[in-house]
Amino acid sequence: MGRDVIIACDFPSAEKTLSFLDRFTGRKPFVKIGMELFYAEGPAVVRAIKERGHRIFLDLKLHDIPNTVKKTMAVLSSLDVDIVNCHASGTVRMMEAALEGLTRPDGTRPLLIAVTQLTSTDQEAMENDLWIREPIDRVVMHYAENARRAGLDGVVCSPLEAGKVHEVCGADFLTVTPGVRFADGEIGDQKRVMTPAAAREIGSDYIVVGRPITAAADPVDAYRRCVEDFVD
Ligand code: C5P
Repeated sequence: MGRDVIIACDFPSAEKTLSFLDRFTGRKPFVKIGMELFYAEGPAVVRAIKERGHRIFLDLKLHDIPNTVKKTMAVLSSLDVDIVNCHASGTVRMMEAALEGLTRPDGTRPLLIAVTQLTSTDQEAMENDLWIREPIDRVVMHYAENARRAGLDGVVCSPLEAGKVHEVCGADFLTVTPGVRFADGEIGDQKRVMTPAAAREIGSDYIVVGRPITAAADPVDAYRRCVEDFVD
């Protein structure tokens, strides 16, 4: 799979999501389904979006004991999505179990990527709440290396970290990066942002774009601008 723009469909219902996707009559966007939509609508919404021909990143961020993650990944694998994820902080053994559960009898599987540290976690919270005393950028790189050691395909990270992750983990280790904004757009609650063109320059493989597309006056045009700047 080459570079692509993934739209974060952070809608509360299948109805809202499907009517949003109805607008896209040309290029079919790669869609991210998160916890809100999945917990509201279950696997049916995944199947409905898949049936319409979209590629899907199912962003459920699994984190549990290895056996539970393995069995859950087997269930997600049967949904035939394109990318799923888990938390790197669940340990290398948990990530290996995730990969095992995800792999179908014929050897095929969705791509598996890891969340390193959430971008909502800062140095202070990491030290005070999690008792991790290393600098956060070193922690992110260590978790990315753990994901690669476990055999995963890549990580979710800030576009600002994408270049370093490729340096440390290899050019073919995927970087999937949220926190993307147009130069003339609202930043909202994201802190460290980058434009689609800059994310491309730094080597992101996939950008995850939510509100700059979903809340735009013309979402199809906003998506087209992202594709133009990031993919074409
Ligand atoms: O609307 P916005 O473009 O900020 O959406 C970004 C999407 O990426 C949201 O679905 C958000 O939950 C997700 N995300 C993120 N930062 C992370 C991981 C996921 O913004 N570190």
